[in-house]
Amino acid sequence: MTPETVMITDVGPRDGLQNQPKILTLEQRLALVQAIADAGVPQIEVGSFVSPKAVPAMAGTDQVFASLEKAQFATPTIALIPNMKGYELARAAGAKTVTMVLYASDGMAQKNASMTMAQADEITLEILRLAKQDGIEVIATIAVAFACPFDGPTAASTVEKGVARFMKAGADQVVLADTIGAADPQQVRALTATLVEQHGAGRLGCHFHDTRAMGLANVYAAVESGIRRFDSSIAGLGGCPFAPGASGNVATDDIAMMLQQMGFATGIDLNKLMQASDLAQALTGTAPGGRSKPWLQGYLTKQAS
Ligand code: COA
Ligand code: ZN
Repeated sequence: MTPETVMITDVGPRDGLQNQPKILTLEQRLALVQAIADAGVPQIEVGSFVSPKAVPAMAGTDQVFASLEKAQFATPTIALIPNMKGYELARAAGAKTVTMVLYASDGMAQKNASMTMAQADEITLEILRLAKQDGIEVIATIAVAFACPFDGPTAASTVEKGVARFMKAGADQVVLADTIGAADPQQVRALTATLVEQHGAGRLGCHFHDTRAMGLANVYAAVESGIRRFDSSIAGLGGCPFAPGASGNVATDDIAMMLQQMGFATGIDLNKLMQASDLAQALTGTAPGGRSKPWLQGYLTKQAS
């Protein structure tokens, strides 16, 4: 029987690097993206088009796109955008897929993008219209889908309404982001089961942070509901500079190992993934590395000998 596929998007070069005290050079960012691609990760969020004053580490994402195009980089790439200006910059840089950030709370919309939730919704609908003409795919990511550091717990009904709206408007994917890593598996299971029932799993994805050590448990809960798309970051890099207390994403190291052991196909070569994880740690000095990494490296070394 052919194993079922789970699509992993590594967001480390964006979600991870945006929160590092150390700002990487263009060459270092490209080396990290290349290492992740070499490991077979099928999609990579390579940067964002945001205000360089707000997020200095993401300045020069246009050069990342230009360099990758020049190198005929084959792995599909994604650019995160917070507003219309971001869309225009991403389009000009040749991005084929953008992740537009939406919000399940006004507090986060204000802090992250100086907007209300409703304004971000309207801009996203406009971007969806433009993107259809421009031949660009749009991933609508709903930030603080489980809890907000400013407004507290998020009502499931708020997320359900948002998902329905952007599914209907033709978003290529709708992703639930646990921006601060506050969700628990029971909450994830309940919300994702409802959403899969309403919309099917095809266009739904999840984005978990590991702040309270429930990242992988939350991935499993969503898998149980039928979700087959996940964001994660190499070596667990990350956090959001605008969301106090958020730590890194669930590590690609851990999610790839767990899913493969469970019998899913991810396309990822774990040996090469460890090399990418080592590079992420060496470049940043802060990436924790997956929790499974010490075991996994020992296991892979034994296999090779
Ligand atoms: N890319 C680059 N520059 C942008 C931009 C974008 N997407 N959107 C706005 N700007 C520029 C404006 O041109 C302006 O530049 P200037 O000061 O040289 O004139 C400056 O940013 C401020 O613009 P303004 O519209 O007043 O926005 P703001 O100061 O309220 O900031 C955002 C709003 C959205 C630009 C800013 O908060 C941001 O970039 N946030 C990104 C947050 C993020 O990346 N979060 C993590 C991912 S979820
Ligand atoms: Zn995130």
